[in-house]
Amino acid sequence: MKMFIGASIIVSVFLMIYVFLQYTVINQDNVYHDDEQKGLNKQIVINFSHVVAENTPKGLAAQKFAEIVNQKSDGKVKIEVYSNGVLYSDDEELAALRRNDVQMIAPSISKLTDLSPTWQLFDLPFIFDDYSEAKQVFTGKIGQDLFSTLQEKNIKGLALWSNGFKQMTSNTKPLLHPADFQGQTFRIMPSEVIKKQFELLGAKPQAVSFNKVYQSLERQEFDGQENTISNIYSKRLYELQKYMTISNHGYLGYAVLMDQKYWDSLPEDVKQLLSDAMVETTNWIWTQSKMMNDEQLQQIKNKSGMRVYYLNDTQKAEWKKQFNSLYQSFEANATKQTLDIIQQIKNIESKK
Ligand code: LMR
Repeated sequence: MKMFIGASIIVSVFLMIYVFLQYTVINQDNVYHDDEQKGLNKQIVINFSHVVAENTPKGLAAQKFAEIVNQKSDGKVKIEVYSNGVLYSDDEELAALRRNDVQMIAPSISKLTDLSPTWQLFDLPFIFDDYSEAKQVFTGKIGQDLFSTLQEKNIKGLALWSNGFKQMTSNTKPLLHPADFQGQTFRIMPSEVIKKQFELLGAKPQAVSFNKVYQSLERQEFDGQENTISNIYSKRLYELQKYMTISNHGYLGYAVLMDQKYWDSLPEDVKQLLSDAMVETTNWIWTQSKMMNDEQLQQIKNKSGMRVYYLNDTQKAEWKKQFNSLYQSFEANATKQTLDIIQQIKNIESKK
C-alpha cells in the first residue's frame, strides 16, 4: 500500500511538471510573442528586380540591402535580387510591381515622370551643380515630400539612391559645342524633358529600354547616348562609342519603390527592419557611387580606345544658352510644388 501511495505521488509530481512546462517553457510562443514579433515567425521573401549590372552602385546597393536584411532578421526576411533586367525590363517593372509579381524595384527617376510629372524637374539639364547638392536634395526633405506624389498612386517610396552624373557619348564625333549634336541620333530614357534637351541641340532622340542599349548601338541604330560612367563601363558601351564628353549635365538618381498595398500588408516589425536597412544602404550608396564612377572612368581611360573630353565653362555656357527656352517653358508650366522645389535648390546653391 505504501509503495502504491509513493508511486502515485511521483506520477502526480511528474504530471504537474509536464503541465507547467506545456504552458510556460515549451509553449513559449503563446507566452512571450506579441503580434509584432509574429512577422518573423515565417520567412518572407521579397523579390527585388533592377536592370543594371551587379558591379554598379545600384547593383551593389541592392545586394548590400539584401545582406543587411538577411542578417538582421536571422534569415527570416529574404531579399532575392534579380539584376540586369533578367525578370523585367525598365518599361515592364512598374506594372510588375503593381501586380505583385515583384515586390521591390529601383527605376531611375526619369522613368517615373510619366506616372508623376513633378519628378521631371530632375531631368532639367544642369539642375545640380555638384554631387553634394544632389545628395542634399535627394536625401533631405525635398526627396521625402516628393514621395507623397507617388503615394497618391499607391506606390511606397523607400529611399532615393544615387548613381551619378550623366555624360554624353557618340560614335560619330566629339560633343563639345551645341552644333556638334546637329543631326545625330541618340538613345534616351523615356522623358519629355530629356527629349526636349536633345531636340534643342538639333539632335534626334528616341527612347529605348536600357536592356537594348548595347544591341542598338552595336547595330548602329544610334550615333550616341547619355549615361553615367558606371553604366557606360558595366555595359561595355565604351566598346561601341569612340567619344565621351564629361559634361555632368544630368543626374541619374533612383527611387526605391514598393507597392503600397504590399508594404501595408507587412508586419510592423518587418517594416521597421526594412526601413533601418534602407537607411544604412542609402548612406552607403551615396558614398560609394561617386567613388565607383571615378574609378571606372579611370578603367575606361586605361583599357579602351575611347577619347575622353571635358566640357569647359565656356562650352557649358553655350549648352545652357541653347536650353534657355526649355528652362523658361518648364517654369511657366510648373506646379507650385515644382516651383517651390526649384527655389529650394537655388537657395542651396546661393549658400555655397
Ligand atoms: C538607363 O535607362 O539608362 C538607366 O536608367 C539605367 C539604370 O537603371 O541606371
